[in-house]
Amino acid sequence: MKVLGLCGSLRRASLNRALLGVLAQEMPEGTSLTIHDGLADLPLFSSDLAEPASATALKAAIADHDAVVFATPEYNYSIPGALKNAIDWASRPPPQSPLRGKPVGIIGAATGMSGTMRAQLHLRQILVYTDSPAMAQPEVLIPRAHERFTDGVLTDDSVRALLRTFAGALAAHVARYPARA
Ligand code: FNR
Repeated sequence: MKVLGLCGSLRRASLNRALLGVLAQEMPEGTSLTIHDGLADLPLFSSDLAEPASATALKAAIADHDAVVFATPEYNYSIPGALKNAIDWASRPPPQSPLRGKPVGIIGAATGMSGTMRAQLHLRQILVYTDSPAMAQPEVLIPRAHERFTDGVLTDDSVRALLRTFAGALAAHVARYPARA
């Protein structure tokens, strides 16, 4: 099983990107998680534009993996615009979108107390339209995330354990959705 990691934060020292990195370490044997870093290269979506190479690359990366894990910050109670923009590009045209039927997992870290709860619910709503089956449990909501990392290194073992459980559950989730022909 090959999983694609997409981080909603474009920040160099992103806690969410660090979280994805730990998830990559905790994937079960025989599976892997690769982070796709091209979200900053995407222009703002407009159907007036021809599909840019950055969007084609994103769609190809999604198509080439068995599942996608979104690591999302919470920006003003929702997902960052950069992540929404990436999903908008990947979702067009709907019949050919690589997100259709693609199993998805969601994780998130925030410096506030909600741990991205509201952003994750918005993301689940968006994934209804893209027809991407999102794993419901376990939820990975990391509040006060800045206290759990030092210089990008995770210092909280309970978060690592949760990510390990999430990775195992994701493998089972993906197995329920055989790849489309
Ligand atoms: C935030 N932050 C934030 N946190 C939260 O829990 N709920 C929120 O609604 C918001 N809103 C918000 C808006 C904007 C524009 C910024 C820049 C930040 C704080 C956020 O959780 C924090 O900056 C995280 O560290 C962002 O994730 P990365 O970049 O570290 O992955």
